[in-house]
Amino acid sequence: MPVDLLDLNRIPRHIACVMDGNGRWAQTRGLPRTEGHRAGEHSLFEVVDASLEIGVEWLTVFAFSTENWRRPRDEVRFLINFNEEILVRRRDELNERGVRIRFVGRRDWRVPKRLIRRMDEASGLTAKNRTLTFTIAFNYGGRAEIVDAVRRIAASGVAPEKITETTIARNLYDPEMPDPDLVIRTSGEYRISNFLLWELAYSELVFTDTPWPEFQRREFFAAIREFQDRDRRFGGVDGGD
Ligand code: IPE
Ligand code: IPE
Ligand code: MG
Repeated sequence: MPVDLLDLNRIPRHIACVMDGNGRWAQTRGLPRTEGHRAGEHSLFEVVDASLEIGVEWLTVFAFSTENWRRPRDEVRFLINFNEEILVRRRDELNERGVRIRFVGRRDWRVPKRLIRRMDEASGLTAKNRTLTFTIAFNYGGRAEIVDAVRRIAASGVAPEKITETTIARNLYDPEMPDPDLVIRTSGEYRISNFLLWELAYSELVFTDTPWPEFQRREFFAAIREFQDRDRRFGGVDGGD
């Protein structure tokens, strides 16, 4: 779908993507699953480019879940190294384009120190940028995020009756991040897989059969068009105020 079919006055402020289907894409081509992850880099930057083009303010991608440690050790190692490599290879270009890089996820012992250093370098380098905030969810789980928020709240000693939805939202990994307006999941799986559980309470969900390595800008725009055709009511009624 070409960009001119979009209503540029109603671009979602925050789009989140579950980049799924890399492994199957590779396997149907007789390639190792890791080649699918490699091929997914192109789609990721198509989506970043397209977001910059139409003025999306926040883009969040699911790169590695708290459950993905269950994968074969070689695939896990590949994903860690590949994420690190992309950060180093692409950070300057993203910085020049006004992209602020951020991370959400648990920084536990399983995430190598070197990757954490690279994450801090990339977010430090781009901290002042404002054009697009590009958040990478790594070792991220929606339930883990809520548990971590509850732990912080409990440790602060706040009285239980003082805890509100705002208290929880302020203790999530990135309290500044607005809730996603649109969540896109590729590769024909109709589930959330522990992504942004708290934040997506009222997000519009778009699912596509296309595997992530084949997801291109025109399909990204089609998902946004679908979003623009939806009627968001947030529990109210049409025409109400
Ligand atoms: C998504 O693709 C990338 C990650 C989860 C890291 P998958 O690796 O899940 O690919 P499929 O779903 O097995 O095809
Ligand atoms: C979700 O995809 C996680 C990422 C895209 C990083 P999975 O492929 O891990 O999810 P399931 O296992 O199909 O639910
Ligand atoms: Mg998958």
